[in-house]
Amino acid sequence: MSEIFGREKEQSILITKLLGDSSEEEKGLLIIPIVGMGGIGKTTLTQLAYNDENVKAHFEIRKWVCVSEPFDEIQIAKDIIGDCATSSNQLDYVLKCMSESIQGKRFLLVLDDVWTENRQKWELLKVPLMQSGAKGSIILVTTRKLEVANMMRATPNVINLEGLSDKYCLAIFNHMAFSDGDVDEAFGDISEKIVRKCKGLPLAAKTLGSLMQNKRRMREWNDVLNSKIWDLEKVEQEVFQHLFLSYYDLAPTIKCCLLYCATFPKDYVFDRDDLIKLWMAQDYVISKGHKEKRTTGDAVFDNLVARSFFQDFEKDFDTGTITRCKMHDIVHDFVQFLTKNECLLMDHAEGAIRESNGIKFEW
Ligand SMILES: Nc1ncnc2c1ncn2[C@@H]1O[C@H](COP(=O)(O)OP(=O)(O)OP(=O)(O)O)[C@@H](O)[C@H]1O
Ligand SMILES: [Mg+2]
Repeated sequence: MSEIFGREKEQSILITKLLGDSSEEEKGLLIIPIVGMGGIGKTTLTQLAYNDENVKAHFEIRKWVCVSEPFDEIQIAKDIIGDCATSSNQLDYVLKCMSESIQGKRFLLVLDDVWTENRQKWELLKVPLMQSGAKGSIILVTTRKLEVANMMRATPNVINLEGLSDKYCLAIFNHMAFSDGDVDEAFGDISEKIVRKCKGLPLAAKTLGSLMQNKRRMREWNDVLNSKIWDLEKVEQEVFQHLFLSYYDLAPTIKCCLLYCATFPKDYVFDRDDLIKLWMAQDYVISKGHKEKRTTGDAVFDNLVARSFFQDFEKDFDTGTITRCKMHDIVHDFVQFLTKNECLLMDHAEGAIRESNGIKFEW
């Protein structure tokens, strides 16, 4: 995990809830939804609590499941079972195995990034968890939608995650913009003004900080500060405005490579080699001079990494090269937003509906 700034208060509230008091334990299964907009830091806060030593000691089993869309109860149950999960896709059987794996144990289950409002699907998963786990077990849910907490009937336990203070956003920004904490005070004023525009969104502070990483001319900093892009008003653009800045700063070929990632599902684990080969197959990667296409592909990948378009890195043990990574949800939404008129995504999920260029497809 990269360095975390602030969130001490929220962390302490959450950990206190997780460690519970005796009256909470009597309640059996407790569901705590952490609700907040994309990029506000829900997953980060949850990770802090999940990895806390007291929390580790308190629960017999801890499981972290990335949910996203579609809500696939069989896959979630298998993720809860872990390494010895059955290969069967029979819901009843998989749920039975899941129940056995937690039987009589106090568990902490994190369901990261839940979108579904389908109570039936949720109950299918919740009931066996509730019946099998020991009292004091907890499900922590992160979601952008309060409706999810309502659907789970967990509204009274909601933790609404607010934005970070400008002070901590500035710390994130400086951490990304200047290596080794070597902050150049000459940019102090502009940094503060740029950070104020992040409106407490840590993802924005992180993205903008990495955008300034290689810029040391005052003019470049003023350009970002005065960019018209901030004035876009549409709701989606309010969320995406920081990403537009990073996007417009990319070379045209790198833009294509980034947009191509819209064709992959959320939470997809990108393999560096595969992705570069796919870019090459699309002819997005141009070889300059006698440079191999593959070398240019590597540079594109590293460029996107450096600008926070990718995260959750897995590295080669010997060389330290990033071999696998994910795309942040907001960045994924953003690239899908940018390609919505060019790219039609068909999803096998039941009754999936996608809109493209104003046309609605239903199957
Ligand atoms: N307190 C913090 N200090 C430093 N970086 C942070 C902090 N909070 C969040 N971040 C960074 O901001 C980005 C967004 O955070 P995170 O993934 O936790 O948001 P989220 O609310 O879970 O978003 P989503 O709804 O898309 O899942 C991440 O790259 C994370 O590392
Ligand atoms: Mg998240």
